[in-house]
Amino acid sequence: MDAAKALLSLQAAEWPTYVDLIPTTFGTGSEVTRFATVYDIEGRKQSVLLPASTMVRVHYRPELLCTLPDLEVRAGFCDAFAHCFESLWARNATPESVELATAGMRIGMKILHNWGSRTDEHFRALQNMGRLGGQAISLTKTTAAHALSYEWTQKWSIPHGFAAAAALPSLHSFCRDRAPGQRSLWIQARAMGARNPAEVHDHLLHVIQFLIPADVRWRLSQAIRSGRVQAPCPDRLANFPMVLSPSLINQLDGQTAMDLDVNACSAFVIKQEGGAGDGMRITPPAEPMNPACP
Ligand SMILES: [Fe+2]
Repeated sequence: MDAAKALLSLQAAEWPTYVDLIPTTFGTGSEVTRFATVYDIEGRKQSVLLPASTMVRVHYRPELLCTLPDLEVRAGFCDAFAHCFESLWARNATPESVELATAGMRIGMKILHNWGSRTDEHFRALQNMGRLGGQAISLTKTTAAHALSYEWTQKWSIPHGFAAAAALPSLHSFCRDRAPGQRSLWIQARAMGARNPAEVHDHLLHVIQFLIPADVRWRLSQAIRSGRVQAPCPDRLANFPMVLSPSLINQLDGQTAMDLDVNACSAFVIKQEGGAGDGMRITPPAEPMNPACP
């Protein structure tokens, strides 16, 4: 889809063009954005914009996702999850983007509770979550988690969704420690069905430990510990609610590496249900969210 959009971006703006997109994966939200992500000859990420005269038509066929390898499903979910989560705390957030991202997060939590299902309904939900996350970030853009993650994907070939989601717990804890009253932290908590931001942090740890395979987590933590070679994308960092200096980024990277190693959390219980093929299920906390949260 991005290749098609990148080619169309080269067309003269006055030529009306139609492009029909049929996603066979999910998570990037590429089908609902006007941007195409491409890499230049030196491996740097670039965004190119579709001309206003190009009309995009999207045809969702969830049954086409049924042959996706498990790793792709996990990475796609993590990417869509990061889009929704980050969009909620983005400086550019609007009431519309919050609504879209909240809807995407809610679908995501339901998917997690039934992880392992391979029905068309399940894939439709994954595509819906991906679409909502894509629509949300097309309004807000992504933030620090994506900015920090690009190097891990480019240099170490960590799948994009895993790399972006891995940075969420440390960034969330950073925000919670420095500005605990931030409204977006509570919006995220509501969207995830958590009682408070502290519980969100536990959920995030479980999401990355549950969805990112152990060998990928090990590779990623090693990659992070080897240090950065380039500064993270400044415009995405600037869209994060807190200012991140290079030394803070170092500290956050260290915490992310530790988060990838940790194997304990109290808020979510992950248990195996049924026999082979039934997959893992996440049991949400029994108590309802505190309605009095600000
Ligand atoms: Fe992404």
